[in-house]
Amino acid sequence: MKIGFITPGGDAPGMNACLRAAVRESITHGFEPFGIYRGYAGLIEDDVASLDKRSVGGIISRGGTILRSSRCEEIKTPGGLRAAQQTLKKHALDYLVVIGGDGSFAGACRISDASGIAVICIPASIDNDVFGTDETIGFDTAVNTAVEAIDKIRDTATSFERIFLIEVMGRKHGFLAAAVSLASGAEFTLVPEFRYSIKAICRKLDQHRKAGKLSGIIVFAEGCGDARAVAGLIENASGLQVRVSALGYIQRGGDPSARSRILATQFAEHAVKLIAAGKRNRVVVLSGCRITDTSIEKVLSGKKKLDRPLLDLASRVA
Ligand code: F6P
Repeated sequence: MKIGFITPGGDAPGMNACLRAAVRESITHGFEPFGIYRGYAGLIEDDVASLDKRSVGGIISRGGTILRSSRCEEIKTPGGLRAAQQTLKKHALDYLVVIGGDGSFAGACRISDASGIAVICIPASIDNDVFGTDETIGFDTAVNTAVEAIDKIRDTATSFERIFLIEVMGRKHGFLAAAVSLASGAEFTLVPEFRYSIKAICRKLDQHRKAGKLSGIIVFAEGCGDARAVAGLIENASGLQVRVSALGYIQRGGDPSARSRILATQFAEHAVKLIAAGKRNRVVVLSGCRITDTSIEKVLSGKKKLDRPLLDLASRVA
């Protein structure tokens, strides 16, 4: 059995830990692992090499992805799909294991439909926005990175009695923002899933001032739009100084946390078990405390919901 591993889309800390475990578990089962480099671009351009136990040595602690990645629009075209199919055929791959987010899974579906190859998906994204799984690889690390940064910003916010609006990633969702808010004690959390009112924020800021709290942290999910514009509106309406800090790509990099590494290793083990059992087109998921799996169709057709009470709790205890 020949298995191609690929990490298309945004990298997430723990992808390497996942690849390491998946390659080694595959070899233990007597399978032949291959790395497909630079995401779907590498699949189209036949950037493929065989992997062995040593080639994934020393990477459990490394962020990013040793397979590298790319955003590849060509895989959505008939020409791109044909080229991908040729690469799969040339290396006689039986399985494609996709470590990434739902955009990568949608690409995998198209490839499977066109070529007939069996696909196993492993959710890895700092956004934690994949339906069907409680957590994605890399999410915990990104939350820790953002919280560490906010703890530092809090120091200067307190010294200067300033309000900080801190932009975090998350694409169209607020899962990362909500977790970061809860863990950093932020006073406000703005996410695309729920409406917010500048007036209400200013009213609360005023109450905070009267109660002796002179600084504040507003966690702003990037999916809410223009952070500077929103900061300007709050500044004008409240008369307070509002500084903006976009945390940016530091959230995607860095050594994976222990939790991201453990999840990555368990997801990898389950993925190889699915291959050994001859399962096709499944996504490995975390459900409660259990690692299990579900169909790709289900994951792609569902919408993960952000828990409103989490945001309310963050705001109540801030
Ligand atoms: O999906 C991960 C993510 O980091 C999002 O949080 C962010 O919106 C996006 O990727 C950035 O994408 P790119 O790497 O194309 O700039």
